Amino acid sequence: MVSAAEKDTVRVWRNARLATLNESLPGLGIVEDGAIAVRDGRIAFVGPEADLPAEFSAAETVDCEGRWITPGLIDCHTHLVHAGDRAHEFELRLAGASYEEIARAGGGIVSSVKALRAASEDDLVRQTLPRLDALIAEGVTTVELKSGYGLDTENELKSLRAARRIAEQRDVTVRTTFLGAHALPPEMNGDKAAYIDKVIGEMLPAIAAEGLADAVDGFCEGIAFSPGEMAKVFDAAKRFGLPVKLHADQLSNLNGAALAASYGALSADHLEYTDDAGAAAMAQAGTVAVILPGAFYFIRETKKPPVELFRKHGVKMAVATDSNPGTSPLTSLLLTMNMAATLFGMTVTECIAGTTREAARALGLVDEVGTLEAGKWADFVLWDIGRPAELVYRMGFNPMFARIRSGH
Ligand code: NIG
Ligand code: FE
Repeated sequence: MVSAAEKDTVRVWRNARLATLNESLPGLGIVEDGAIAVRDGRIAFVGPEADLPAEFSAAETVDCEGRWITPGLIDCHTHLVHAGDRAHEFELRLAGASYEEIARAGGGIVSSVKALRAASEDDLVRQTLPRLDALIAEGVTTVELKSGYGLDTENELKSLRAARRIAEQRDVTVRTTFLGAHALPPEMNGDKAAYIDKVIGEMLPAIAAEGLADAVDGFCEGIAFSPGEMAKVFDAAKRFGLPVKLHADQLSNLNGAALAASYGALSADHLEYTDDAGAAAMAQAGTVAVILPGAFYFIRETKKPPVELFRKHGVKMAVATDSNPGTSPLTSLLLTMNMAATLFGMTVTECIAGTTREAARALGLVDEVGTLEAGKWADFVLWDIGRPAELVYRMGFNPMFARIRSGH
């Protein structure tokens, strides 16, 4: 919490090199010899230091000594709230089993469901915080947290309440997403239609009544839910005024990207199997493509997301960890950028925009965060680097110098 005294503080960061990500500028929106002035937790001025308005001349000043500043990093797709791990399944996969085989044999998401149901809300918060702290240590200032390992009303509520509590315990903006349509829980005995009815008729109303979800997500896949089932969930989300997103076309092409686009989804995520029509529909709808190289790498997928098609159609691309126990036990957004570049050929600019401006867009927050622009929250990171490419280039090294959230 910001105290009244702190709130009135005006502070200036000077002698910095800024990657503003301002869309009206080319590339990373670079400003050399830059300054940022902050008032009441928001950016009041950003630009060349020579243009700093006189009203800030008496302000408390931080000399950045020529360091680079980017917007605070945003991890727009995570399943950080989970209990236990799936290291055993990792060993099975090393011995030759596939992700889908393990899921169909009752492992996979369902084994994380058992672990989450057995954990208390306190436990869940306690287990999640170290993973969040790893992201924060690399400059993450906004993170999305999904439910989806509870799969009944009580346990989905528990997950989302834990997510809201986590937001109070750390200096980070949290957006929560209800992912009830993630997998079929064992007690439904294979009855997907009845489970979807429960998601819509029981879980979503309870979650909406407590204001626990900022968006609604689903897993549209052969081992999860069909496009028709997801459409029902999206219709219900619309009735509650909640934006939607979708795990789409990860393992096969069920035209999930096009389905998401037809609902004006904030994002469609994964997208390895998305085709030209799916990419065109996303562009038309302004649905962000969230690229998740951690899952691609970890399950040794070979089909790459169609980055070329997204470029061709002008689909905005975000990059996220997908941090989860089954397909992406990854808690480094910097390493994720390196993977997006190395595995998928994304450029340095696309990777940095993908973890700032486009990630903000994928969360419906681009008017508040994601770029260094006057009026936005003063969330930014100072880096000990010589050029922005270093953020993407290194593997397992953290060049963060300081992390500022809401001007502090
Ligand atoms: O994003 N694709 C579905 N959901 C997760 C995996 C969850 C799990 O296996 O626990 C994902 O990859
Ligand atoms: Fe995911």
